[in-house]
Amino acid sequence: MTDKIKYAIIGAGCMGQEHILNIEIIEDAEVVALCDTSEQSIKESLELLNNEVAIFEDYNELVRANIADAFIIATPNFTHIDVLKDVMKSEAHLLIEKPLCTTVKDCQEFEELSKKYPGVIWTAMEYRYMPPVQRMIQEIHNKTIGDLKMLSIREHRFPFLHKVDDWNRFTIKTGGTLVEKCCHFFDLMRLIAKSEPLKVYASGNQDVNHLDETYDGMTPDILDNAFVIVDFENGVRAFLDLCMFAENSEYQEELCAVGSIGKIETEVPSNQSGIANSDIRIGLRESDSSTKETIAVDIKILEAGHHHGSTYYEHTSFIKAIRNNTKPEVSLKDGLIAVAIGEAAEISINEDRVVQMSEFNLE
Ligand SMILES: NC(=O)c1ccc[n+]([C@@H]2O[C@H](COP(=O)([O-])OP(=O)(O)OC[C@H]3O[C@@H](n4cnc5c(N)ncnc54)[C@H](O)[C@@H]3O)[C@@H](O)[C@H]2O)c1
Repeated sequence: MTDKIKYAIIGAGCMGQEHILNIEIIEDAEVVALCDTSEQSIKESLELLNNEVAIFEDYNELVRANIADAFIIATPNFTHIDVLKDVMKSEAHLLIEKPLCTTVKDCQEFEELSKKYPGVIWTAMEYRYMPPVQRMIQEIHNKTIGDLKMLSIREHRFPFLHKVDDWNRFTIKTGGTLVEKCCHFFDLMRLIAKSEPLKVYASGNQDVNHLDETYDGMTPDILDNAFVIVDFENGVRAFLDLCMFAENSEYQEELCAVGSIGKIETEVPSNQSGIANSDIRIGLRESDSSTKETIAVDIKILEAGHHHGSTYYEHTSFIKAIRNNTKPEVSLKDGLIAVAIGEAAEISINEDRVVQMSEFNLE
């Protein structure tokens, strides 16, 4: 395949537009079609594009038009399962925004249906591709800190933004905050630990955000803070500290891992902080000092989205998998287990108990 990779965006809202901005700065890729039910989203997306594209309101017509090599599915979470079943009538490569689906059951149904699908199917997990996070993972997997024992991830940020039709205000449409937002972090934990989750315990609530909002007479029901502990089969313990009423945090994510011989930590700057670089700090137990490495991201890449350059790097890897006919770096199984840990954490809070991952039939 020597031509540019032709992308069609299904769901041209906030995240769809971040994908457009990144594809626009990748030389061997182009957006050829947009599909959205909202005129406003189409209008905003067209403003980001330098070339003419085909416009669709119904993704079934986009599938029938057969004009794209790859579809990005960036519609609201609850629509993913239906969109996926329909776009599988094509043979296009699929980049599916996280969470893969809102429930383990839907993820498993899609996984089963996709077994013989000829295209690359990739769950979009942008946090894997943030340069400081990638560097930290490399050091952990190189055993710089010995055998990993403890991993903690803190996300302190602003509340959920307003989305088209405010679909992100209700658990039924998102899967719940710990699925919708935190599947990213559970995916990272599993990637870093190189192990499968055994059990999950969580404590959380909706204490501050969206309590004065109503939609068709209903108040939003999504958590705005939680602590989640995940125990892995290989003994690694991971911890998530989520707070969504912490605007103006300098760093949106802080990651810290401790192994048998040392500790490594890094931070991901929040968009509004204006900070472009991150530091990786490593302290070894038998040394008097620590080392620091600064990870810089190209400003052009930083400006193409809200995820510290990660969407750009995710696309370059996705394109490589398409061109080389290789397996996705983030598989459906990865997408499914990230949702399962999030679902387990939501159950843990709702039922006030430890949830064993064996309660889900994940084999
Ligand atoms: N990776 C990340 O960090 C990240 C960040 C934000 C959003 N997301 C994910 O991206 C997806 C979209 O979220 P968003 O923030 O862009 O929401 P959004 O509401 O801004 O955009 C969703 C778009 O989908 C359109 N849409 C809805 N139903 C449709 C249909 N049947 N056919 C075509 N278009 C349809 C809407 O009109 C809207 O324009 C979600 O799955 C979300 O979880 C991921």
